[in-house]
Amino acid sequence: LVPDRNYFYQNYSDMGVIAGKGLITTAHVEKFKSIVGDAYVLADEENLNHYGHDETEQLLFLPEVVLKPRTAEEIAAIMKICNQDRIPVTPRGAGTGLSGGALPHLGGVLLSTERMNSILSIDERNLQVITEPGVITEVLQNAVKEKGLFYPPDPSSRGSCFIGGNIAENSGGPKAVKYGVVKDYVLNLEVVLPNGEIIWTGANVLKNSTGYNLTQLMVGSEGTLGIVTKIVLKLIPFPKYDLLMLVPFASLEKASEAVSAIFRAGFVPSALELVEIDALKIVSQMVDSTAVPVDDSIAAHLIIEVDGNNMDVLMSEMESIAELLTQFDAGEIFFADDAQQKAELWKLRRRVAEAVKTSGYTIEEDTVVPRAELPALIKGVKELGKQYGFHAVCYGHAGDGNLHIRINHPTIKNSHGNEEMTQALRALFELVQKLGGTISGEHGIGLIQKPYLSTVFRDANMYLMREIKKAFDPNNILNAGKIFDLN
Ligand code: LAC
Ligand code: ZN
Repeated sequence: LVPDRNYFYQNYSDMGVIAGKGLITTAHVEKFKSIVGDAYVLADEENLNHYGHDETEQLLFLPEVVLKPRTAEEIAAIMKICNQDRIPVTPRGAGTGLSGGALPHLGGVLLSTERMNSILSIDERNLQVITEPGVITEVLQNAVKEKGLFYPPDPSSRGSCFIGGNIAENSGGPKAVKYGVVKDYVLNLEVVLPNGEIIWTGANVLKNSTGYNLTQLMVGSEGTLGIVTKIVLKLIPFPKYDLLMLVPFASLEKASEAVSAIFRAGFVPSALELVEIDALKIVSQMVDSTAVPVDDSIAAHLIIEVDGNNMDVLMSEMESIAELLTQFDAGEIFFADDAQQKAELWKLRRRVAEAVKTSGYTIEEDTVVPRAELPALIKGVKELGKQYGFHAVCYGHAGDGNLHIRINHPTIKNSHGNEEMTQALRALFELVQKLGGTISGEHGIGLIQKPYLSTVFRDANMYLMREIKKAFDPNNILNAGKIFDLN
């Protein structure tokens, strides 16, 4: 990867940020060291490179310095300095993002929350957990599961992503179709504001009609309004049983038509994923798995899971869904019999993004449409591929109408800064908008989806968002130039 410094020099003045190369002086570095400790102020090449990219396309922007604070108070002290001296600050969780939210495209301070990795308390009386932002999502899920409790949002990267990043992006994952996304579990947040003040956004309660909902405003704000330092999440009892099946289809269209039929027939699966065959072939090869047959008669699979506390009910639901799918020319269904088979299937599904990226599918879109419009979206994607000369594989959370589209173009590997690909993607989002959908279901806008917001928002929407940003961050120092440019 080659750092795109030009972008910074050309654009920082357009962002309303008073910043520039060499803005961070030795005096700043000394102050940062006195706040977080010498060991947690890094400016060597290896670290700058590591923190200069996330999982988005093939992009790299070097920060000037990386800071690893441990507490909200340390972050507050850092923010006071940066706010006073107009130094851009980019907050970062685990760097698994797919829209560039954690890319330090303006240089400045990269603020990693990785040391804030304690689960502070699990409240079994109220079914809540209080955690710091740098806890890995799966670690949190396992900790509450030990108490019989369930935190459902499960992005594919749950083994490495941080809960703080999930809040920044309002992440989802396969379970969202039944259990909802991150926003449905966040009750209250401790936030360091760009000026260094520390607030709690709400209360640790299940209902709250007290003023504007700052908690939910923070969720999905992609680190542009404040830095989340403590998180209170709602938990639910862990369902006792689940059943999983894999259903092959000879036609991608039929597979996508079957999705909405399942809900219309009265079922709410706990996961309903679609994986196109090309993606499955690539991921099977990468993880060296033969768990799923990938013969040429198959175009796509649906992965369907049901869960609950009554096994008889689940069995009967699975049978009825299987029966329904015969109307859509489903092939021979594979039922995952035990925990190991289930784990293998989920491993294949969770590693699709990573696998296809290494095979050249570097550009990822996160479109979402009303569920029944999925077939029209997929058809449109394939047509756009022909028109613009790329190959696309579709996969994702079909039950939510949330389709991930991975694009492999023979020469264009980044949509960011590429006119031709931007034009193709604008055409894609115009279709999405016509179908009643929007740009991102769970990955966010970040840096790379900014050019498309005008396909779904009017000027009045943009005005309100910009004014909100100004109210939180009048000097535009915190993750500036993400979601939208200020000017
Ligand atoms: C997934 C990630 C890319 O669904 O959102 O695998
Ligand atoms: Zn996803």
